[in-house]
Amino acid sequence: MGLHHRNLINTLDFSLDEQNGLLGLAQRIIASPAAYGRVLEGRIMASLFFEPSTRTRLSFESAALRLGGQVIGFSEAGSSSAAKGESLGDTVRVVNHYADLIVIRHPKEGAALAASQASAVPVINAGDGGREHPTQTLADLLTIRSVKGGFDGLTVGCCGDLLYGRTVHSLVKNLGRYPGVSFVFISPEELRIPEALRAFLHGRGARYTETRGMEEAMPLLDVLYMTRVQRERFASEQDYLRLKDLYILDGAKLRHGRPDLCVLHPLPRVNEIAPEVDGDPRAAYFEQARYGVYARMALLAMLSGAEPGLPAAGERRSSPRPAKIEIPCQNPRCITSAEPALSPAFYLQDAETRCWCAYCESGVTL
Ligand code: NCD
Repeated sequence: MGLHHRNLINTLDFSLDEQNGLLGLAQRIIASPAAYGRVLEGRIMASLFFEPSTRTRLSFESAALRLGGQVIGFSEAGSSSAAKGESLGDTVRVVNHYADLIVIRHPKEGAALAASQASAVPVINAGDGGREHPTQTLADLLTIRSVKGGFDGLTVGCCGDLLYGRTVHSLVKNLGRYPGVSFVFISPEELRIPEALRAFLHGRGARYTETRGMEEAMPLLDVLYMTRVQRERFASEQDYLRLKDLYILDGAKLRHGRPDLCVLHPLPRVNEIAPEVDGDPRAAYFEQARYGVYARMALLAMLSGAEPGLPAAGERRSSPRPAKIEIPCQNPRCITSAEPALSPAFYLQDAETRCWCAYCESGVTL
């Protein structure tokens, strides 16, 4: 750790080789957990959760403890100094003296990036608003790899809230890198996958289709990724109520699925998977939570430098070109709107007439 430490902020921060190495390490930990019981000995992980969580926080804490590390942190913004008006940057600078690694969840988009800029120790994004959730993706990938044997050529259905569902955003970006993976996006018009993500897939030549109908999609799928409608990100409660019950996977719908379908859900579920599905051998969402611990163990071991496989930041590919514009980001959910000390930063897109915010990635036309 130190000047050139690595972070995990975006799901594409690790190259495919690095990621495959991490998944391989996770599988070795599953095979012989005792061999890794002292990997984080003498190290402290801080979990800074400004937004509610059960799985992600507890699975990180469990991962650190299982590696022999120790854990400090808070589980809601109200119990941290943020409630007194402290900036995120200040919180991070202080925690740098207390911990060797920081895991952060925050309701603002780009918060993890902002935290990493203030940090001298590795920062892991455990969810920044509706934007990304890269460690859930590691859990998802480890599950898919274990159940399906690999990724190449898979048809992956994503169903529900594809607009606000950050787990879907990270998963789709990441899986789009593997050869022959295609997607079926199942959602109402209002909760369609964001335009930027569609453009991303297009740019990579990844195939996708969009539909409203779950039944017609079912027989096509190798993996079905169900999601919760993200109530906390809706501007209007009425819209939430109108859309929340659109997709419910029950026994009758599952009958349209292939015998080797793998059903995933990042959890928590509300009602989008009926309990009767839990006993079906195709339901893998509780296993997915188990794999999440091993994926996070591998991540902590690699980011702390205890296990090899992540070259220092300086040796990696160059960053995108900065755009010199003096306007603030217009996205009210962006961390730059909440942290006065952060200067706005934009990157140029290829066309030079569009750029995107370095924090929340929303686009601006020049
Ligand atoms: C997800 C999240 O927080 O984005 N949960 C998780 O981390 N396992 C999904 C959700 O809250 O719906």
